[in-house]
Amino acid sequence: MKQILVTGALGQIGSELSTALRRQYGNDNVILSDIKDNEQELVNSGPFYRMDCRDSRRVAQIIKKHNIDTVYHLAAILSAAGEADPGRAWDVNINGLYSVLEAARETGTAVFTPSSIGAFGPNTPKDFTPQDTIQRPTSIYGITKVTGELLCDYYYHRYGVDTRGVRYPGIISNVKEPVGGTTDYAVYMYYAAVEKGRYTCFLKGDTYLDMIYMPDAIKAAIDLMEADPERLRHRNAFNVTAMSFCPEDEAAYIRRYMPGFEINYSIDPVRQALANSWPNSLEDYAARVEWDWKPQYNLDSMTKDMLKVLGERAR
Ligand code: NAD
Ligand code: SER
Repeated sequence: MKQILVTGALGQIGSELSTALRRQYGNDNVILSDIKDNEQELVNSGPFYRMDCRDSRRVAQIIKKHNIDTVYHLAAILSAAGEADPGRAWDVNINGLYSVLEAARETGTAVFTPSSIGAFGPNTPKDFTPQDTIQRPTSIYGITKVTGELLCDYYYHRYGVDTRGVRYPGIISNVKEPVGGTTDYAVYMYYAAVEKGRYTCFLKGDTYLDMIYMPDAIKAAIDLMEADPERLRHRNAFNVTAMSFCPEDEAAYIRRYMPGFEINYSIDPVRQALANSWPNSLEDYAARVEWDWKPQYNLDSMTKDMLKVLGERAR
């Protein structure tokens, strides 16, 4: 049975990936950690450590104590939060990853690290962005993500650490609301539709970005870590995507189920600039060929499910 450590376990992805991992591998075999400990249900559902991922000694200590063989390293600062405090974004995203990779090198564990569409920049091809292409991001978040991709490749080639990762697009979910990102609008729109029947969007209506529904994002992480290493030509930063849409498209799909839904706009220049610098849509051929990646949800099925789950919760 795998023995897993999750960093950043109380964040948007961690809250759901941790539950899925515990369901698959057993509560006691999935050790959760975060710099905070404010989610009592998750914290109390199995072993949990309050841990700063930048503390490599403590990361290695916990890995050894629990005979960990796989780390899902999710602790990070996202794009808009990064622009508000670039020094913190660099510190957590780079020193945190370095510390986890060093602990992995010492202990022989595998490491999953998510990169992002933020690793691309304004001169990357915008449509069907290829797996291997120009990466000159203009945000501190993107700079840390490209550095992270390279660092993970380096630890694999130089030290044989089993590093793997995907470039996630915006992730839409209904357990933990996202904070500090640019694609967060797509999540907030569903919550606002159910709570108020209207939403004020901080991105322009025709801003196209790639997105994925959380069940597919979780499946990507687990499937990649279970994949046959012999088949992996790329190891880190696999493009994965499920759909590309803009705020107007999402609003139109919400209206299929809530005809009175209204959207208006109050643009945040920081997040609009971040979104403008990212691809409209990704090509994810390498992930499909090398580890059989295939998403289940599209904009229609995701919208239906989001409105159903949030609607039931609101009752
Ligand atoms: P999040 O901000 O929701 O969660 C990050 C977690 O890390 C938080 O719980 C936070 O408390 C924790 N954390 C922050 N600093 C820490 C530190 N020094 N030590 C330990 N924990 C610390 O982020 P998320 O959306 O869950 O993202 C997880 C990963 O996926 C990140 O690498 C992010 O860049 C990547 N990603 C996310 C998305 C998305 O749409 N959510 C898209 C692309 C990539
Ligand atoms: N969803 C993330 C963000 O908007 C992209 O990695 O920051």
